[in-house]
Amino acid sequence: MTESTFSRDLRPRRSNLAVPGSNPKMLEKAKGLPADQVFLDLEDSVAPIAKADARANIVAALNEGGYDGKVRTIRVNDLTTEWTYRDVVTVVEGAGPNLDCIMLPKVQTAEQIHWLDTTLTQIEKVMGFEVGRIGIEAQIENALGLVNVDAIAAASQRVETIIFGPADFMASINMKSLVVGEQPPGYTEGDAYHYILMRILMAARAFDKQAIDGPYLQIRDVEGYTKVAERSAALGFDGKWVLHPGQVDAANEVYSPKQDDYDHAELILDAYSYYTSAEGGARGAVMLGDEMIDEASAKMALVIAGKGRAAGMARTKAFTPPEA
Ligand code: GLV
Ligand code: MG
Repeated sequence: MTESTFSRDLRPRRSNLAVPGSNPKMLEKAKGLPADQVFLDLEDSVAPIAKADARANIVAALNEGGYDGKVRTIRVNDLTTEWTYRDVVTVVEGAGPNLDCIMLPKVQTAEQIHWLDTTLTQIEKVMGFEVGRIGIEAQIENALGLVNVDAIAAASQRVETIIFGPADFMASINMKSLVVGEQPPGYTEGDAYHYILMRILMAARAFDKQAIDGPYLQIRDVEGYTKVAERSAALGFDGKWVLHPGQVDAANEVYSPKQDDYDHAELILDAYSYYTSAEGGARGAVMLGDEMIDEASAKMALVIAGKGRAAGMARTKAFTPPEA
């Protein structure tokens, strides 16, 4: 189990760029793209016979550096395969100080997170790395993972994100569609993914994790990507996978607040802090223009303002207290 109280990495992860570990050129190219996070993959984008070389490529790319400012994550193979332990040992022993998180795909139970937590702790101790610094990202990709998602989110302090894996999930529940992220034919009312997204979001919010939407496979259709991203962003998701450089800007935009909303949120926070102070009359519910604001409005504003600040947005409006 984790023995440190290392405070978890809450840097923005609006765009999560997938990079196959078997492709050194793409590992290099990813360094120059404006993605918040890169995840260097050892799982489904790497053929079984290429896994060993991919581990070596990833260790070399991480130690060479250049992913500055990005969250550096490695996706290992899931625990039903024979590759997981060697993925974790090789990349963490080889490049531990230069990586931030291990992503575990197809997580089904809290025990699988315990296994990864304990393994990381052992490697950190043997190698003299800070115990507990490396985080865990848990991908939910099947029905069992979803019904256990609360326990998975709560399984370790290392868990930083809960990720929806739509492609494997659609296969796991026998959904009648091959187009990842789009509504299955015949489902004409509502959103077939709503329950899954909300279930993941509730677990993430209950345990202070980031909620991340998965890939959109029609990589040239940026409009389609944006539409699907807007659905999860509207619910409260923090980011989405990006499979192609062309999707990065769309993700960064969709998961950041709009400028007007960001300005509005900062104004609410300033006004609320002024009016609840002795100088402002120590009031709990007040008017900001035509809008009544109170403690709950300030909480909602803090979410938007927090996302805007994390994304480096600048205010274009200032709050002026009324003349006394
Ligand atoms: C991602 O891993 C997915 O299965 O969608
Ligand atoms: Mg998957």
